[in-house]
Amino acid sequence: MNIRQFLESEVSRALVAAGAPEGTQAMVRTSSRSSFGDYQANGVMGAAKKLGKNPRELAEDVIRQLSLADVAEKIEIAGPGFINIFLKPEWMQQQLQQWITDPRVGVPKADKSKTIVIDYSSPNLAKEMHVGHLRSTIIGDAVTRAFEFLGHKVVRQNHVGDWGTQFGMLIAYMERLAAENPDAVSMELSDLETFYRDAKKSFDEDPEFAEVAREYVVKLQSGDEHCKKLWEKFIDISLNHSEEIYRRLNVSLTRDDVMAESAYNDDLPNVIKLLEEKGLLTDDQGAKVVFLEEFKTKDGEPMGVIIQKKDGGFLYSTTDLAAIRYRCHTLHADRVLYYVDARQGQHFEQVFTICKKAGFSTARCSLEHHAFGMMLGDDGKPFKTRAGGVVKLAELLDEAEDRAATLIAQKSPNLDEEQKVEVIRAVAMGAIKYADLSKNRTSDYIFNWDNMLAFDGNTAPYILYAYTRVKSIFRKAGVQLEELSGELAVLAPEERTLAMKLMQFHETLDVMVAEGQPHLLCGYLYDVAGTFMTFYEACPVNKPGVEEATKQSRLLLCALVANTLKAGLDVLGIDTVEQM
Ligand code: ARG
Repeated sequence: MNIRQFLESEVSRALVAAGAPEGTQAMVRTSSRSSFGDYQANGVMGAAKKLGKNPRELAEDVIRQLSLADVAEKIEIAGPGFINIFLKPEWMQQQLQQWITDPRVGVPKADKSKTIVIDYSSPNLAKEMHVGHLRSTIIGDAVTRAFEFLGHKVVRQNHVGDWGTQFGMLIAYMERLAAENPDAVSMELSDLETFYRDAKKSFDEDPEFAEVAREYVVKLQSGDEHCKKLWEKFIDISLNHSEEIYRRLNVSLTRDDVMAESAYNDDLPNVIKLLEEKGLLTDDQGAKVVFLEEFKTKDGEPMGVIIQKKDGGFLYSTTDLAAIRYRCHTLHADRVLYYVDARQGQHFEQVFTICKKAGFSTARCSLEHHAFGMMLGDDGKPFKTRAGGVVKLAELLDEAEDRAATLIAQKSPNLDEEQKVEVIRAVAMGAIKYADLSKNRTSDYIFNWDNMLAFDGNTAPYILYAYTRVKSIFRKAGVQLEELSGELAVLAPEERTLAMKLMQFHETLDVMVAEGQPHLLCGYLYDVAGTFMTFYEACPVNKPGVEEATKQSRLLLCALVANTLKAGLDVLGIDTVEQM
């Protein structure tokens, strides 16, 4: 239980003891201002209204029922009936002292581990990964790591698009190139975007080629060995491209996490059969359709979702239905989270609705589309190259490294070569990831190099720099983090503010995974870094004249800061450096 939850349960219990109905919530939140305490309970007013009681009087009764003497130094009633809770420095000290040598800084593993299926990255393999997949990849991976850190079982599902008519064209083109010049194939495939464009051009302009391509689609679908081999080769090369991006970005996806669209092919006829048995399918001019009352067309009619086309072909939605069956009934998921572009919102709502009706999902399983907005250029339009083309992710990462190199050459000219390489990589990849992670994912965001590489503000360089500042305090003091002794004492107001922040790591992570919102963790780490800077200005460590006990205590706080920043950045998939 994190501190907020602990207080929530204590104050809720007191509310019930004071006469509120069973199940009344205390609604404990972190206070918006320090004069309102560390936490405030907002639930008394609502409860008083239901009971027909004066809220301030009820608040008094609640306080009388509380047994927080060890934890809180002051509990006050404010305004119409808020309860403000001020935590005791002694209690804070006691908690923090236990966490000094703990790299998890006091965050326990969950008592009840849940199974969380996370569908993220999921590019279409016919083409190169684009910026939309970059967002899905980065955000999905941070949420994945956070769940794992909290002790849950995560099943990563990279639902790559590896099936569909375009693959007939691509493998036919690959074969034709190989016939002309076997060496040309791998060369051409090193640029998937161009490869796709060239294949499409031949398809549109050369009827003979188009015929072969169409034939290959049919052959592929009927399991023809030759076509299957070609297809597998293509998929393998395309996956290598994605994996190169994952590796550079320190994204935890591997081949084992690929659960491609094609993996569900065999189950699709079964999906049709089951929907039929449930009476959910309607024949609509030869196509099999589920009509949903919950969604209306422009004319106010129930909206139809095509499950099988007239020619027998299946659709993107059909595969997603099969995937949910697998995730709920085979993987036994408690939650299935989809990190997919907001424009697919209706698709998921419809698929989830059908699954509930058809029993493809289970009652215990929560299906959640965690949508994100678009990545925009400085002009506020969808992010493109100057020429209006797709931005290649590999080139984007190269540019980040070039820019970081220039920056580090100015900022840290004294690093040796090896350190420099490490710092440049950490800053470059950190900046790209953090820029994305630090925004509320549901909104569009503007991709701007100068903002993400700035050393002030809520950026990766700022947090990484704060971490190295703490590390340099230890270097100056001539001690290792691990060899600290002494007692932690929370005395100065800056120490108190910092101590309080450090105690909120656990609850921040809990909310982050509940909502699938990494920006909450970024905001928290930014606060930790900021409160640390303020603390360090007011409370020197290595200055002459600082007493030994004070120095030890402050070093302990510094150690907690370093461990929290490191653990937090780890959860975000961002590497730290010791010096920069
Ligand atoms: N491949 C899809 C795309 O690029 C995303 C797949 C998301 N996951 C899913 N289960 N539909 O748009």
